[in-house]
Amino acid sequence: MKIICAGEFNFFYIRSVIKIDMVILMKTSKRVKSISLSGIRKMFELVGEDSINLGLGEPDFDTPHHIRNAAVEALKESFTHYTVNKGILELREAISNKLECENNVEADPESIIVTVGASEALFMCMQAIVDSGDEVLVPDPGFVSYDACVKLSGGVSVPVKLEEENEFRMTPENVLENITDKTKAIVLNSPSNPTGAVMKKEDIKGVAEIADDHDLVLISDEIYEKIIYEGKHYSPGSFCENSVTINGFSKAYAMTGFRIGYVAANPELTEEMLKVHQYNTACASSISQKAALQALKGPQDSVGEMVAEFKRRRNLIVKRLNDMGVECSAPHGAFYVFPKIENSQEFVSESLKRDVVVVHGDAFGKYGSENVRFSYATSYEEIEEAMDRLENINF
Ligand SMILES: Cc1ncc(COP(=O)(O)O)c(C=O)c1O
Repeated sequence: MKIICAGEFNFFYIRSVIKIDMVILMKTSKRVKSISLSGIRKMFELVGEDSINLGLGEPDFDTPHHIRNAAVEALKESFTHYTVNKGILELREAISNKLECENNVEADPESIIVTVGASEALFMCMQAIVDSGDEVLVPDPGFVSYDACVKLSGGVSVPVKLEEENEFRMTPENVLENITDKTKAIVLNSPSNPTGAVMKKEDIKGVAEIADDHDLVLISDEIYEKIIYEGKHYSPGSFCENSVTINGFSKAYAMTGFRIGYVAANPELTEEMLKVHQYNTACASSISQKAALQALKGPQDSVGEMVAEFKRRRNLIVKRLNDMGVECSAPHGAFYVFPKIENSQEFVSESLKRDVVVVHGDAFGKYGSENVRFSYATSYEEIEEAMDRLENINF
C-alpha cells in the first residue's frame, strides 16, 4: 500500500513538474529565447581575486570632479523627480549645439531624446524602425547589442563581414553586397567595439549614399567618438537625411554608472521612439541629466588626458603582443585591440589559467571567431603585468 502511495505521489509529482515546465515554456517568448546573455558577462564570472581583467568595456578613470559635483548639486537641490520624457530642455539644447558644432549634424532639441545610456537608444531605435522579418545590416565582428536588439524587435540581423585586411573598417562594398529588398536599416559603429577601427570619411559618405539611394535608415553608434588617436571622426548624419545619431557619456566622460546617453533623428522617427522610451523608462535619471549637462558645458581637459593615456597603453599592448609573436596592428580608436590568434579558444583558456581575462572574438559575431579582444581600459602597470603572465604562452 505504501509503495502504491509513493508511486501515486511520484506520478502526480511528475505530472505537476511537466505541467510547470509547460507553463513556463508557454510564458516565455520566442523572441527573447532566441537571444542569449553576452559572452562578455560570462567571462566576468571567472574573474578571481588575482585576475587582471582585460575584458573591460569601460574606462577605468574616475568621472571628472566637476561632473560628479553637478550630480551632488542636483541632489542637494532636490532635483530628484521625473523630467519631461525627452529630457530637460537645457541638456537637449546643449546636445543640439554639440551635434551642430562638432559633428555637423543638424538636430533640433525637439528631435533629441535623452536616454538611459546609448543602450536604451539602440533598443528603442530598433523597436521603432523594425517590423517582423525586416533585415538590419550589423557589423560583424560588432558590439553584442546590435544583433540582440534587432532580434528583440522581430527583425533579422544580417552580419556584414568586416575584413582584417581593411583594418575592420566597414566599406560601402561590404554593405552593398548584403542589401536585399527586405533591408530596412544599417548599423555603423566608428570607432568600433571590438576592433577599434575608425572609418574613413569616404567610407562613411559611401555608406550614407547607399542608405539614401535604397531608402534605408542609417543608425550610427558614435559612443567612442572622442577616443580617437589617429584620423578624425565623421558623423553619417552630416551626409545622410535618414540617419539616427546615437551617443552617450559613458566612454568619453567615464560615466558608465550614470546610465545616460541620447539619440537624435528626424522628427517623425523621434516621435515613434518617444513612445517606446515613455513606456519603457519614462525619462532618464534627473540627476544624471544634470551631470551630463555639466559634462558638455564644463572643461574638456579630462577627455584629452584620458585619450592620451589610452594611446600610451595601446602602444604598450600592441608592442608587447607583437613581441610575443601575436600579430597585432594598432587600431586608431576606442580602447580595444582585436588580433587574430591561432587556436584562439585555447589562448583564452590558457590566459584564464594565468589569471588574465580576455574575451574570445566569437562573443562579437561569427566573423570574430579567430580573434581575441584585449581591452586596455586598465592601468599601464596592470597591462605590463598581464603581458608578463602571457609571455611564454604556447599558441
Ligand atoms: C559600441 C557600443 N555601443 C553602445 C554601448 C553602450 O553604452 P552605454 O553605457 O551608453 O549604454 C557600448 C558599451 O560598451 C558599446 O561598446
